[in-house]
Amino acid sequence: SRPIILDCDPGHDDAIALILALAHPELSPLAVTTSAGNQTPDKTLNNALRILTLLNRSDIPVAGGAVKPLSRELIIADNVHGETGLDGPALPVPSFEPQAISAVELMAQKIRQSDKPVTLVPTGPLTNIALLLASHAELHAKIERIVLMGGAAGVGNWTPAAEFNIFVDPEAADIVFKSGIPITMCGLDVTHQAQIMDEDIERIRAIPNPVAKCVAELLDFFMIYHRDPKWGFVGAPLHDPCTIAWLLNPALFDAQDCWVGIETQSELTLGMTVVDRYQLTGKPANATVLFGIDRQGFVDLLVDSLAVYTPT
Ligand code: BDR
Ligand code: CA
Repeated sequence: SRPIILDCDPGHDDAIALILALAHPELSPLAVTTSAGNQTPDKTLNNALRILTLLNRSDIPVAGGAVKPLSRELIIADNVHGETGLDGPALPVPSFEPQAISAVELMAQKIRQSDKPVTLVPTGPLTNIALLLASHAELHAKIERIVLMGGAAGVGNWTPAAEFNIFVDPEAADIVFKSGIPITMCGLDVTHQAQIMDEDIERIRAIPNPVAKCVAELLDFFMIYHRDPKWGFVGAPLHDPCTIAWLLNPALFDAQDCWVGIETQSELTLGMTVVDRYQLTGKPANATVLFGIDRQGFVDLLVDSLAVYTPT
């Protein structure tokens, strides 16, 4: 079973990524750490604890991370995820406490103790991951890969040039993309194709367990923001679960190895992921960039995974 650490800012799609990952014994979650992003750090930490409580997985250690980006003020996405960061379903009160150590310390400890190299799965701003890499060079060799949701080869979703996770902490993203550790980038090019439709949500709602019910209600809320016709979506893009789907079944995706650079200076294009698709720079590839997805296969994977949770 592949050891992973989920570093997330739940967040509706982060929560669904967590629920998808924990349905599969071929992934071993060593820890869940939280980043500031979709909501303030106190709320994303509490949301991770609430989701793990729902899943009866208080055995997974949780730690809160940096309270703000490396060198900028925090921007949150409460317009997408609501006041709590997980508006919609009634979630349980956490049944357990986070660890007394920071996200970076918990990640370092788990990587050090693991027999196998660990895969990091960040689905929020990359602040914690950058801090880990900068402070623990000795652990780089024990990180197998970083499978992240962030960026876009095409247009952004927070500014015309930038995707939200990278825009919130571009300096952190720059450290991660320059680290030399293998990266899989699930950017908007692929996640905007990973749309969940109304009829898919009804399939999920029909699954007789409380976890599937919660996911359907998360999706009902997540749909609201994405129904604005300006996006041209039919459903809602399930950004963060693409990371887990790639780990479970990379054959669902079309990918290309590319050099990716992060814009940290320009006012106009701050946080842009510059993807060298045609090898124009001659720089060696530092990321496997996902460009396409078998949408139906992805949705079927999610629906089948939700059915494993215990009925009430
Ligand atoms: C990313 O931003 C967040 O709002 C989502 O959780 C996802 O990680 C998409 O741009
Ligand atoms: Ca996220």
